[in-house]
Amino acid sequence: MNHRPIGIFDSGVGGLTVMRKIMDRLPRESLIYLGDTARGPYGPRELGEVRLFALEIASYLESMGVKLIVIACNSATAAGLLEVQRRCRVPVIGVIEPGARGAVHATLNRRIGVIGTRATVRSRSYIRAIRALDAGARVFSRACPTLVDFVERGEVEGPEVEKAVRGYLQPLLRREIDVLILGCTHYPLLQPLIGKVAGARVTLINSAEAVAHEVDNKLRARGHSNESTASPYYRFLCTGGKEHMIRLGKMFLGPEVDKVEEVPLDDIVGRF
Ligand code: DGL
Repeated sequence: MNHRPIGIFDSGVGGLTVMRKIMDRLPRESLIYLGDTARGPYGPRELGEVRLFALEIASYLESMGVKLIVIACNSATAAGLLEVQRRCRVPVIGVIEPGARGAVHATLNRRIGVIGTRATVRSRSYIRAIRALDAGARVFSRACPTLVDFVERGEVEGPEVEKAVRGYLQPLLRREIDVLILGCTHYPLLQPLIGKVAGARVTLINSAEAVAHEVDNKLRARGHSNESTASPYYRFLCTGGKEHMIRLGKMFLGPEVDKVEEVPLDDIVGRF
């Protein structure tokens, strides 16, 4: 039994889709979410820089006494999961491997599409993770750089975003994929639209559910689940623009996002 919170982070609001699933699956766990809104989006940045950000934030969350860290961002998982795991004393879970596993289980024709940020696609992490599970699977990846911006503006429907989604998905659909990994934690917010464009023959994989399952397993195995019946607490932190995060947080996670605390970047930068 362990009352300490779980730490979750992303470059912005996207990781709230992962937090929601963890809240639903583990209603007794306290959670601290940090959105690095002052430095996001991470997608257009160099992998080395994103790795450094991930190390800094993980170290900051560890200093707050978390018992486990979830990197709720594909770009940061791709850039830094192994290094963060090496440096942290607590277990660290990323979002790429659970998504890859879900896709390999779901595909019938072994033709898997992946959409993500430039950083994630450039890292080839999904290709490696999928091939480790099925060396013969065909993987077709596409960077969708503008989708995160639409989500961060709260624009998840309408003709402009639909046009962008169509443009990104068409080359993948021509390759006859039967599974599409939403390889960015912002994309589940566009899931109805992506599903409409991809059509019923394509199964969408959102790794958030699988990540929540993995968090549950990891805590149980270590005897660190919180068994107490006292209500858990949720804290939302960001590195800039808290009003924006409250507005989007309410939209994307729910009424629990009623207060956001701003952490000065100086408290985070240079921890590594
Ligand atoms: N939500 C993130 C991801 O899963 C990051 C998006 C971004 O910062 O570009 O990759």
